[in-house]
Amino acid sequence: MKILAIESSCDETAASVVENGRKVMSNVVASQVPEHKIYGGVVPEIASRRHAEAISGVVEKALSDAELTLDDIDAVAVTYAPGLIGALLVGVNYAKGLSYGRKLPLIPVHHLRSHIAANYITHQELKPPFFCLVVSGGNTMMVEVKDYTDFKIIGRTRDDAAGEALDKAARTMGIPYPGGLNMDKLAKDGDNTAFRFPTPKVENCPYDFSFSGLKTSVINTIHNAEQKGTEINKADLGASFMKAVSNCLCKNTEKAMLDLGHKTLVLAGGVSANSVLRNDITELCKKHKWKLYLPELSLCGDNAAMVGSQGYYEYLSGNVADLELNAYAGMSIE
Ligand code: KG4
Repeated sequence: MKILAIESSCDETAASVVENGRKVMSNVVASQVPEHKIYGGVVPEIASRRHAEAISGVVEKALSDAELTLDDIDAVAVTYAPGLIGALLVGVNYAKGLSYGRKLPLIPVHHLRSHIAANYITHQELKPPFFCLVVSGGNTMMVEVKDYTDFKIIGRTRDDAAGEALDKAARTMGIPYPGGLNMDKLAKDGDNTAFRFPTPKVENCPYDFSFSGLKTSVINTIHNAEQKGTEINKADLGASFMKAVSNCLCKNTEKAMLDLGHKTLVLAGGVSANSVLRNDITELCKKHKWKLYLPELSLCGDNAAMVGSQGYYEYLSGNVADLELNAYAGMSIE
């Protein structure tokens, strides 16, 4: 079954053709990074407009890269939640048009479910059940993936997502957008013990995260230095902050996996590209002899191949929408 998948939840317009959920026949991503860079972050209205301009060309390229036409496509999958509402609507409406015009099944895909599915492409042998740490720009959570379309949230952030904290810290440090990625590059040789940060805990909820205090702490460190006129070593500060974020993620993951008896960990979401987190999670899994699956770097960020993969399993479980399908800014992965 060949699925044409569309993703437009944030600042990448993406389309892909995926066969039987695992074989990527094409994967086209049009990034809006240069456009948003001058504002230091994603401007939702600009994102929607650029998606509307780019989507036809991106879908056409996905088909031509796969050496296929719409006649060869069996279904259309689209990210419909969560994300920027105006951005999501562009993809959803385009997919609805294709579905109606070509009489193709329309498959709604949850964005975070698709981030997890990026691992089904990287690791062809991977099958649920497994434990998953999802760390993206807008969400941070731990979930039990009981089956391809059956998820149970074990813990989640009570405030900022880890990616959001990294991006805001980077912006305050004067690191250009996309902050998380550029901080990772800049801090490669930084001393991660140079600055001390708290390890926030959520009282009585050992599996939940809180990153806003950590974010405020790094911002205060920068402002204090500015007021005193002292120079901060950005590589050291970035390395120390990334280590603090990674420590929080690893600590809760370790506790939850031990408590719940899991032995297979999957990492997902844009922040899974982070070198510190990849390293620390690898060490954690080595320590406990757990099996670890990391998504390949090219599939960590937003893309449509992961939507095509998850879309296949949604279709198999009967999750098909009609033309009433809407987009939603927020929606539980469950
Ligand atoms: O999953 P994603 O592409 O978007 C959402 O679905 O939210 O994640 C984007 C997030 C941003 O916060 C970005 O700064 C972060 O992933 N990111 C990174 C790295 N690459 C992307 N954060 C830390 N280190 C990286 N190498």
